[in-house]
Amino acid sequence: MTSSLDAYLGSQCDSDPTRRQVAETIRQLCAASVKVRNTITNGSASEHLGASRDAMNAGGDVQKELDVVADRLFLDAAKAAGIAYFGSEEQDEAIVIDRDGALALAIDPLDGSSNIETNVSIGTIFSILPVTDAHRGDPKSAFLQPGSRQLAAGFFIYGPQLLLVLSVGNGTHVFIFSSSFGGFVELIGSVSIPERASEFAINASNYRHWEPQIRSYIDDCLAGAEGPRERDFNMRWIGSMVADCYRILVRGGVFLYPGDARKGYAKGRLRHVYEASPVAFCVEHAGGSATDGLHRILDIVPDSLHARTSLVFGGKREVARIARYMADPA
Ligand code: AHG
Ligand code: MN
Ligand code: MN
Ligand code: MN
Repeated sequence: MTSSLDAYLGSQCDSDPTRRQVAETIRQLCAASVKVRNTITNGSASEHLGASRDAMNAGGDVQKELDVVADRLFLDAAKAAGIAYFGSEEQDEAIVIDRDGALALAIDPLDGSSNIETNVSIGTIFSILPVTDAHRGDPKSAFLQPGSRQLAAGFFIYGPQLLLVLSVGNGTHVFIFSSSFGGFVELIGSVSIPERASEFAINASNYRHWEPQIRSYIDDCLAGAEGPRERDFNMRWIGSMVADCYRILVRGGVFLYPGDARKGYAKGRLRHVYEASPVAFCVEHAGGSATDGLHRILDIVPDSLHARTSLVFGGKREVARIARYMADPA
């Protein structure tokens, strides 16, 4: 008998009022994700949803229509869940919803914006953090906690299937939206990233901008069976981190978005609070690791809501190998 997300949340999040609110927040996020998926699936709107607006977000990305539509739907979900503070890629500042609330929600409403009009998987990434009295005077401070304090984190994938990858701090679980059931049901009970990696994901068009250590790691993978790794590697780059991450969770491998020499890319492209931190939480709970190349992502205290970080994640052994390359002065 397949178990529902609802039953899972009931069993995992019933110990205290804060955990029950975490469960309620996840339920509201799920309801919003179905609306986003339905919006995407409505083909007549797809051209319009991928259209660029005349606006940029705080991170300097040109906003597309669907970035903004998804942001609104998840803000409504945060309101329905009684969240204290809402921090989004598409909002310059943290939004105060309920000053007495116990939770902060950080969100990348639409991950993989460049893929919207091309019918490639895209997603939503979220992180749920505790709010304490120390954060009350300054909402953004609730987002500047190390990711190890997350109460729950996960991401939705709007792909051939509508999936939820979720960790409430006890393993990483995958749920699939079933229209016949009318909700999310368990697809993978507890994910475990395969140890041995033979696939890497990186935007290789930035090769000329990388530090020598990253070039050297990728050169060694590309050399395949004739090189120091003595085996062949395959490469994938989807351009939607949610989809690359899901593949790595089920099939193994490693993902890198390192800092590089381009202006504004000293710490790469990905944002710490609502991209790296929740992905790191899910990856670690699936037995993998996530670092900025050298340091554990979940230990780092971000210095702003939209701070960027270099990001490496995947199977433990491969992520540790990359740290050895990074530590080498080259
Ligand atoms: P977003 O669409 O939320 O701005 O994030 C896109 C991110 C991530 O999903 C992906 O891995 C990366 O940016 C792609 O970057 P490139 O365009 O450099 O390939
Ligand atoms: Mn963006
Ligand atoms: Mn993103
Ligand atoms: Mn986004």
